[in-house]
Amino acid sequence: MAATGMATNATERYIRAAKAAGCPRDQIENFVRAGIVLQPRQLAASAAARLCDAPDGPIEVGYGGARGGGKSHWGIAQVVADDCQRHDGLKALILRKVGKANRENFEDLRRRVLFGVPNEYNRGEGVLYLPNGSRVFLGHFQKESDIDAYLGIEYDIVLIEEATTLTARKRRDIQTCCRTSKPEWRPRMYSTANPGGVGHAEYKQRFVAPHQVGKAILSLGLQTGDTRFIPATVDDNTFVNPEYRKVLDSLTGWQKRAWRYGDWDIAAGQFFTTWSRERHVIPPIAEIPFDWRLWCALDYGFTHYTVVYLLAQSGDGDIYHLAEHAERGWLVERHAAAWNAVLGRHGVPRWRLAAFVAGADVFAKKHDGGTIADQYRAHGFTLTAANTDRINGAAEYLKRLGDVSAGIRPTLYVSESCPRLAECIPSLQHDPHRPEDVLKWDTDEDGVGGDDPYDASRYGVMVVARPASGYGANPLAGYRG
Ligand SMILES: Nc1ncnc2c1ncn2[C@@H]1O[C@H](COP(=O)(O)OP(=O)(O)OP(=O)(O)O)[C@@H](O)[C@H]1O
Ligand SMILES: [Mg+2]
Repeated sequence: MAATGMATNATERYIRAAKAAGCPRDQIENFVRAGIVLQPRQLAASAAARLCDAPDGPIEVGYGGARGGGKSHWGIAQVVADDCQRHDGLKALILRKVGKANRENFEDLRRRVLFGVPNEYNRGEGVLYLPNGSRVFLGHFQKESDIDAYLGIEYDIVLIEEATTLTARKRRDIQTCCRTSKPEWRPRMYSTANPGGVGHAEYKQRFVAPHQVGKAILSLGLQTGDTRFIPATVDDNTFVNPEYRKVLDSLTGWQKRAWRYGDWDIAAGQFFTTWSRERHVIPPIAEIPFDWRLWCALDYGFTHYTVVYLLAQSGDGDIYHLAEHAERGWLVERHAAAWNAVLGRHGVPRWRLAAFVAGADVFAKKHDGGTIADQYRAHGFTLTAANTDRINGAAEYLKRLGDVSAGIRPTLYVSESCPRLAECIPSLQHDPHRPEDVLKWDTDEDGVGGDDPYDASRYGVMVVARPASGYGANPLAGYRG
């Protein structure tokens, strides 16, 4: 066996580890020849990839389930350094998400992983050519529809990165392209994924749950069916840089459970697990310091509640909810008068309000041609459009709540004068179909519950959020893996 570039002892140790993971000899040779040293979980995923050769073997292999587990590294190594070497003229499609992938770009990855694999990359075409005639097509997507450009052609291998960011439907569309006219090749799909995203529930059901049932953490032999799943977290990646690990460790709430620990049960239960009444609720502030920045946020409703907050930001950036108004079945005139009175009680003249944001519905034209916003304007309040992005809003909220148990101090507080908000936040649940979002929740007939206080507060919080880039409030945005 060629051992280019690797000391003999290290090579022997590597070969032993690969054998233990279930990799066949010629696969190990492919990696050794390319100078690619995969880690134990990555080797297990590659062993699973080889199971796809058998007529009754799996047709899909999933790898990862948390951030930083070496997913991207594994995917390229498996497709290019192993699969494409085994058969002349194979056609592979690699679908990667842009945004983060823009930075963690393919050329970086190619340099890091494929330095020992002869290949030529035509950047303009987005195609990687191998000497044996195998080709790897590189597809990038930002939104689902971007993928359609790559469909309709036949691919022997498809690798999807960040698969839970696609709907189950789109994954099925892609699957129809994964077919072959080569009798000696069995087509297969590989995917890497993190918990959360529109495809979370389906991916969990198709990959993670069968794996958990088999309790086959490391033993592939116990898994059966069409899929294999090899979990990996940052703990399985000794090559990750310490800063990235630190970013993961400083996450809070569902993001920590999902991205740091690979917990797929995030969809079950409370969203803001880091909320603590003792820490976040403060006594009413009698006198608002003159240098605090003040603004209002409104979530409109008629049968549902109209909820309004007076928010403030202190010099150190902390956000305070100072006053709350929540009523339903009222006309605008009455709300406006009531809110005027609230501002008066807090000694806040209108000119101190830097903004008054509201959800999009107040700007929708009604049958008489007017809008709710017009009515508020007639009563002296000029509403502007809030940033209503639910997922970035929820992420920003989570970040501001901090994490007392991890020593991360909150930067969001709710005064006792906002009892509905204090009640609402801890009662919010994950949306099972979009676990990184809060489940929508209507008030019942008796006016109990509902998410209107959260929506209004979220609009308010987003007023001072940093501007949404491609990844908005994602704390890992821009990380260079
Ligand atoms: N077998 C390996 N040999 C050398 N470096 C590796 C290996 N596996 C992973 N790495 C390095 O670890 C870092 C993180 O790996 P990678 O980007 O593949 O993880 P990921 O799971 O795709 O992360 P993310 O969740 O951020 O997309 C990268 O710098 C990568 O080059
Ligand atoms: Mg990656």
